[in-house]
Amino acid sequence: MTTVKLAPSILTADFGRLADEVRAAEAGGADMLHLDVMDGQFVPNITFGHTLVAALRKVTDLPFDLHLMVEKPENQVEAFADVVDTINVHIEVSPHIHRTLDQVHKLGKRAGVCLNPGTPVSAIEESLHDADQVMVMTINPGWGGQQMIRHQLGKVARIRGAAAALEREIDIEIDGGVKAANVADCVRAGANVLVCGSSVYNAEESVAANLQRLRELADGARRETYGVAG
Ligand code: DX5
Ligand code: ZN
Repeated sequence: MTTVKLAPSILTADFGRLADEVRAAEAGGADMLHLDVMDGQFVPNITFGHTLVAALRKVTDLPFDLHLMVEKPENQVEAFADVVDTINVHIEVSPHIHRTLDQVHKLGKRAGVCLNPGTPVSAIEESLHDADQVMVMTINPGWGGQQMIRHQLGKVARIRGAAAALEREIDIEIDGGVKAANVADCVRAGANVLVCGSSVYNAEESVAANLQRLRELADGARRETYGVAG
């Protein structure tokens, strides 16, 4: 079990000073940056696209974890491959998921598959042969700041077991409503990448203080669950 990685999502950051918000995440010890691209079709909201991601690429060395919440994600893969490290596509809009994951790999990038709360684990079972990462949505995608749908954590353990049966060590990422109160449960369930939006970018505390708190809780839960140091 590798260390738990924290992936701040900029969705609730101050977009008027986005470069500074991203630098704060890097200085505060984030492991990567999670970028939520929405098209107003697959999800009701519209966020940002390639232009903004390319601009942010110049302000940080953090790996970029792209979350494509768009219809026909395969049409976006080639353009984004220049500026991100991992490309995550939703199974609900990917009838040819094997081809899309292959497309991502051929561009030299890590490939992830995401599933919505209403989508069963069986929908991504075949992708466990190919994907580097599975993203379990613990909210209905569209906005930051929603409450975690707790029973979705059960999927994480099932995916971890199914991947182990294939002798594949994949990253399992949880996206939606991760906060101090449930970080330990996420780690115990078997996740090793945690998206944290409003629990990092909020008015209560600094980005660094929020990241430090989440890190301590995640590391504590990891030690408790897997009996390893640090
Ligand atoms: C929502 C996005 C999430 C969002 C998470 O559709 O996929 O990445 O930013 O925000 P929080 O952590 O506030 O739920
Ligand atoms: Zn996301």
